Amino acid sequence: MSEGEQQHGEEPKLQPGMHPSFISVLKRRESIKHNLSRIKHRIGVYSAKGGVGKTTVAVNLAYALSARGFRVGLLDADIDCPNLTMFLGIDQQMDVSGFPLKPLIKDGIKVASTAMIVDDSKRPIIWRGPIIVKMLYDFFENTDWGELDYLVIDLAPGTSDTPLTIMQVLDLDGFVIVTMPQRISGINAIRSGLMAKRLNASVLGVVENMSNGTPTASTMEVVSTLGTRLLGTIKFDPAFSEYSDKGQVPSAHSEEVREAFDSIAGALITDAKPDTA
Ligand SMILES: Nc1ncnc2c1ncn2[C@@H]1O[C@H](COP(=O)(O)OP(=O)(O)OP(=O)(O)O)[C@@H](O)[C@H]1O
Ligand SMILES: [Mg+2]
Repeated sequence: MSEGEQQHGEEPKLQPGMHPSFISVLKRRESIKHNLSRIKHRIGVYSAKGGVGKTTVAVNLAYALSARGFRVGLLDADIDCPNLTMFLGIDQQMDVSGFPLKPLIKDGIKVASTAMIVDDSKRPIIWRGPIIVKMLYDFFENTDWGELDYLVIDLAPGTSDTPLTIMQVLDLDGFVIVTMPQRISGINAIRSGLMAKRLNASVLGVVENMSNGTPTASTMEVVSTLGTRLLGTIKFDPAFSEYSDKGQVPSAHSEEVREAFDSIAGALITDAKPDTA
C-alpha cells in the first residue's frame, strides 16, 4: 500500500498542535498496525549509545522468550550496520525476488535483517535516511511474520531516522533500554528513554549490561529519571565477544546467563502462558 492510502479502520485524526504533514505518519501507523496485527507484542531494545549490548540483549531475550514456549521474531532494525545475523551465525540470504519477504528461521525464531539482503561486510550499506526508512517499512508491511507472540526489535544507536521511525509508526509495547555501568552510558540511556517518552512510547525497563552484578548509581539514575524499573543485570563476561564472533548465543552456553535473561523475559511478559491458539 502506498503512503497516504487508508484501507483499514477509521481515518486517523490530527491531535491539537500536530503539524498537518503528520497525517501521513498517522496513516502509516494505522496501516502497519493492521499488517502486524497477528503479532501480539512488539518490544524494542534500544540505547542511543553504540556498543552497550543492544544486539546481545535482543538476541538473548528472544531466545529466553522462545524457551518459555512463545513464538518469537527478531528484527534487525539496524538497517545500515546490521549485526544480528553474525551474532546468530546466519549466513543465508533472504529471497528478495518478490514480496512478501520471508524471515529466515534460526532455532525456531523468525529473523529478518538487511544483512540477509546485502552482504554489507563486502559492500557497505550507504543509504540516506529515506531509503533506510523505506527498508524499515518493508520489514513492517511487506514481510510475512505470520503469527507471533513477540517481535523483538534490535535498534540502531542514535536518536535519528531508525529509532524515530520506529517510535512514530510502530504500535510498540515499549522499549527495553540497555545501559552499561559507566556514567556516559547512563546519560545516553536517559536521552534514549526521554526520546521514547516524548514520542508516547513506553519504557518497559532498564538492563545494565557488562555489569558486575550490582547496578551502579548511574544505572539507578536512569531507572529513576525514566520512572521505570530495573529489569536485570548481565555480567561482563569476556566469552561474549568470542560467542558473537562464532555466531553463538551466550545464553545457550552458560546457565547463569540463561537464567539472567529468563528473569528479564519473566519481568517483561504479560501473558502467563504461551498462547498457541
Ligand atoms: N555482558 C557482556 N560481556 C562482555 N562482552 C559483551 C557483553 N555484552 C555484549 N558484549 C560484547 O560487546 C560488543 C558489543 O555488543 P553489541 O553488539 O550487542 O552492542 P550494540 O549496542 O548492539 O552495538 P551497536 O550500537 O553497534 O549496535 C560485542 O562484541 C558483544 O559480544
Ligand atoms: Mg547492535
